[in-house]
Amino acid sequence: MRAGVFDSGVGGLTVVKSLRSHRLFSEIIYFGDTARVPYGVKDKNTIIRYSLEALEFFKNFEIDIMIAACNSVSAYAIEELRHNAPFKVSGVIEPGVLALKNRAPSKESSILILGTRATIASGKYEKLLRAYGFENITALAPSLFVPIVEEGLFEGAVLDTAMQHYFAEIEPPDFIILGCTHFPLIAEAIGRYFPEAILIHSGDAIVEFLEREHRLTNRFANTQLKLFASENPEHLKKTAALWLDDPTIAAAL
Ligand code: DGL
Repeated sequence: MRAGVFDSGVGGLTVVKSLRSHRLFSEIIYFGDTARVPYGVKDKNTIIRYSLEALEFFKNFEIDIMIAACNSVSAYAIEELRHNAPFKVSGVIEPGVLALKNRAPSKESSILILGTRATIASGKYEKLLRAYGFENITALAPSLFVPIVEEGLFEGAVLDTAMQHYFAEIEPPDFIILGCTHFPLIAEAIGRYFPEAILIHSGDAIVEFLEREHRLTNRFANTQLKLFASENPEHLKKTAALWLDDPTIAAAL
């Protein structure tokens, strides 16, 4: 069983980390569009066009499923990808909403969605949550979090100031959807700011979704990872070695 994982850049490695730790695939082909990141500030048509170009790349491989790890892609391009793909396609928004639904004891639960501007503007998380009966929803685009994570500042004064800036007016929620590939890397800091909140991580949510909805129950001894980027693949590999804590990637550099 092989997966193609697509992201605008390196952030989708947070999803790869969850997929690998659950050993759902024998091989993962990762493509990060590092030449054109960020997608989260781009408009719908551009995100769709870039996603369809990424689809052409994945058609070179024998994959069983393409996973759009990028929430901005998941917000705008899943239908177009599905329409044009010879394999299954999954985004991370539906899995994230289902993961929350499976954990929320009540429809009154308060939910804070964090995502890029594109993801929040699409209203896709909100629409799905409302379809499941949730009403108490706040959606926020803390845009500075993405460059802060890119800088590797997962803790400390810069992140604390940014959190204060975005969260000062926000009532502590019951659930926080980490609706951006980069946010799991600062999950601990967000969790400290809102200690009562349950955080929903796209990587864990997609694993749960693949197991439940796609009935992927086989476990592979290990997952071979092939990393591709539209620019500076060395940076992607170095980031992967660090974030995935994988000495074999580091050794191959
Ligand atoms: N991968 C994007 C997402 O999850 C975040 C980075 C970007 O803006 O491209 O929405």
